[in-house]
Parts: sequence; structure tokens; C-alpha cells
Amino acid sequence: MPLITWKDEYSVNNVELDNHHKQLMATLNALYTECLKVDNVDCVRPKLEAFLAYAEYHFTAEEEYMRRIQYFEIDGHIEQHRGFSYKLAEMKRVQYRSDLELTRELITFIGKWLLHHVFEEDRKYALHAATAIKN
Ligand SMILES: [Fe+2]
Repeated sequence: MPLITWKDEYSVNNVELDNHHKQLMATLNALYTECLKVDNVDCVRPKLEAFLAYAEYHFTAEEEYMRRIQYFEIDGHIEQHRGFSYKLAEMKRVQYRSDLELTRELITFIGKWLLHHVFEEDRKYALHAATAIKN
């Protein structure tokens, strides 16, 4: 069973950005289904690398989109992206007692962040875009 399943209500009404969000969820789900096993060595670190790289790629695209639609709260939103990348980079550096501990920490942090960020914060620019198009 995956940890998070995509629902249409999560859409930000942009196919490319929705696909990015789906990909981020897929990596989180892979961490959950594959790396929580004690005997699965070298599981979490490559996924952490992949997640960080993909998140950076996605943030760049999302920030470009927010500029295009002239989203007025873009600065605060970019701050949230930076904070997320910073925290993941820090988790990469910290010495955890085991890969399993790192996996648990990552799942908790990324899970909470994705749910809040994608489904509440990203929603705000989606709403802005919808209103801007109407007017
Ligand atoms: Fe975002």
C-alpha cells in the first residue's frame, strides 16, 4: 500500500506541475514501501539524492510559472521551497544511527511537508491563476 495516493482535488490546474507533484509522491511512496525494511541496504540515500534533485528541478519550474501568472505571494512561496531544500541537504549531512532512522525521519518530514505545501500553499497560486484568467 502506498503512503499517499494522488487525488484530482490535489491538482493545481497545470499538467506539468501536477506531474511533478505525482513524481515527488512516487519517490516518497518508494521510500515507504522499499526502505523501511532492515535488510534493504543502500536504499534510502540514493532516494534522498533523487528526491532532492527532482524537488530542485520542480521548484525552478514552479517558480517560473508563478512569475508568469504574476502571483503576488511568490517571495514567501520561494522561501518555503528554499527551506525545504535546506532541510533535506541538512538531513543528507547529519549522521543518523542507521539508514532506517534516516528513512523514518525523511518519511515524516517529506510526508508532512508535501501534504501541507502541495495541497495548501500550491493551491493558492492555482486559485490566483484561475482568478487572473477570468478577469
Ligand atoms: Fe510550491
